Amino acid sequence: MEEKIKSIESAAVEDLKRVFTLQNLERVRIKYLGRKSYLNQLFSQLPALEKDKRAYIGKALNLLKKKIVQLVKEKQEELEKEEEEKIDLTFPSEKVEVGTQHILSYVSEEICDIFEKLGFVIVEGKEIEDEWHNFTALNIPLQHPSRDVFDTFYLMESPCGGEGREKEREKRTSRFLLRSHTSPSQIRVMEKFKPPLAVISPGRVYRPDEPDASHSSMFHQIEGFCVDTNINFSHLKGVLLHFARKFFSPEVNLRFRPHFFPFTEPSAEVDISCIICGQENRGKKCSVCKGKGWLEILGCGMIHPKVLENCGINSRKYRGFAFGMGVERIAMLKYRIPDIRLFFENDVRFLNQFY
Ligand code: PHE
Repeated sequence: MEEKIKSIESAAVEDLKRVFTLQNLERVRIKYLGRKSYLNQLFSQLPALEKDKRAYIGKALNLLKKKIVQLVKEKQEELEKEEEEKIDLTFPSEKVEVGTQHILSYVSEEICDIFEKLGFVIVEGKEIEDEWHNFTALNIPLQHPSRDVFDTFYLMESPCGGEGREKEREKRTSRFLLRSHTSPSQIRVMEKFKPPLAVISPGRVYRPDEPDASHSSMFHQIEGFCVDTNINFSHLKGVLLHFARKFFSPEVNLRFRPHFFPFTEPSAEVDISCIICGQENRGKKCSVCKGKGWLEILGCGMIHPKVLENCGINSRKYRGFAFGMGVERIAMLKYRIPDIRLFFENDVRFLNQFY
């Protein structure tokens, strides 16, 4: 019996030497201290021994048990300490991805800032409009092609719903739609506020165009207008030239080409001198202006007297100018972005490169 006790002790010491994990330690603990352990079996043999021997062996077994418990405890402490030391507190933490402002919001804010510094006030219009504000009040005739369902998203249900809707419709003969330009902001402001007015109005617009490199069914415009007693076309030219030189470069020039919009008279389309080739490549190959030397950036004109009258403003007393530009187009020119769809794909590799 004493022999056996000695051999258990040395076996336990040997086994514990080869333990390197807490899991293995548990296995060894069960082997020597568990219910089915050899040690336990020896304990159960005690009653069969003679009285003297029983006391003596019992004591030895208890000592052995105590010793193994102590060895296991020491090993456990040692392993737990090692485990703790494995946690490297100086290890750098995981990188937290922070988003950036979308390039379109950035450009839009940049443009609005320039006009705000001139005294223009930002007013946001409505994305869901009615025919009165989007077309009729802007002097766009009933049979005008832009009113066609192929050029405007009409809403089946009015966003107000409920009673009184039919009456409302009758009164204004106005269906609801997603605005196809930001010009209805002119009407919303002039219906509510009287001149002098200088307003800049950014926002989303919608057109059922087939998407391609330069078309998207949703895009952004910035509308600007100014109404006062003695506003004339040179004010418009001065404001737009200031904007172009601040936004693109102090060297750019503007060209006003006669155009037609129902809500302005006279109307013009405005080009800037090519910001890429600086008109050096005129007639030659510039991939951006295609050798023309000019890039179209916006539409503008003097607000049509009928539009002022539609808003209850005396057109004999007041004049105004207005302009509207596409934010995507302007951002594409400034940052040489080749495809409008890139703005809306949300690829962070594209979105992060501007900062
Ligand atoms: N609303 C016109 C468009 O979407 C732009 C414009 C605005 C033209 C104001 C003249 C005056 O094309």
